[in-house]
Amino acid sequence: MTINESIKGKTKIACVIGNPIAHSVSPQIHNTISSYLGIDLAYIPFLVKKESLKEAIEGFKACSLVGFNVTIPYKNAILELLDNISEEARLIEAVNTVKNVNGKLYGYNTDCSGFKRDFAEETGTNFFDKNIVVLGAGGSSRAICVKIALEGAKGISILNRTAEKAELLAGYINKNISDIAKAFGINACEAKSRLSEADIIINTTSAGMHPHMDSMPVESGNIFSRGQIVYDLIYNPPKTKLLAEAEKAGCKIVNGLGMLIYQGIEAYEIWNDVSISKEDARIIKELFKNYL
Ligand code: ATR
Repeated sequence: MTINESIKGKTKIACVIGNPIAHSVSPQIHNTISSYLGIDLAYIPFLVKKESLKEAIEGFKACSLVGFNVTIPYKNAILELLDNISEEARLIEAVNTVKNVNGKLYGYNTDCSGFKRDFAEETGTNFFDKNIVVLGAGGSSRAICVKIALEGAKGISILNRTAEKAELLAGYINKNISDIAKAFGINACEAKSRLSEADIIINTTSAGMHPHMDSMPVESGNIFSRGQIVYDLIYNPPKTKLLAEAEKAGCKIVNGLGMLIYQGIEAYEIWNDVSISKEDARIIKELFKNYL
């Protein structure tokens, strides 16, 4: 391992906090961006225990960090420690990116904006007036559902193994954004017709993720139709069983690697007031693949 000897007294510092944190790929994403763009910013991971969250945040202010990312389990708990929260992050009730401006902390959710940006680039379209099925009703689903509702989706069908969680999320979208969400058990009959009518299907569950590559969030067989867009937030493996079935049926398929990279790129842009082009993002994605 090479420790970057280019870190100097004037190097800016950003970090990610979570518990656990050892699995995080954010240091590799951000340090790849810094190296590629030639920006003097180093990014490090911190394991923070629940009882030390507040102290850690005070320390970041005291040490003038430019900003930090927040991962599980603090994306919600961080809200009350911030001075300002973006409208989207407030609706999602989760912040993954914080900018420190002279000791004032600004919170954002770049999971949802990164998802939107990658989706647009990979598919050439957006969510406006589309019928969308979202598989799963956990934290990732909430970020996706809020974003696509804000972007003008015509209808959102939330399909979840535990139907009650889908109902809670659909109710939240209907009450707080627009009355377009419905909830179903993931293998209910009605769920199948929702899947067949959808323009876009988004998997936010962990079913099919390494090492459970044989799993599918929905029952296998004749789920998809030609022309649908199927986006799986999973990036390991690059082609889940769900995506392989969708591809066979003639769907446009996209995995979650681009969303992962873009949530990092958007955080980097917020901290450094830079804008990273599509071409640069493509190169950063290729460089980052070396770490997978
Ligand atoms: P995340 O933050 O990644 O969304 P989460 O909040 O724990 O994680 O949510 C995980 C989601 O994946 C849930 O919707 C979960 O369904 P349940 O609510 O029924 O638990 C879903 N999920 C996980 N494993 C699954 C599987 N094998 N099949 C179907 N859904 C699954």
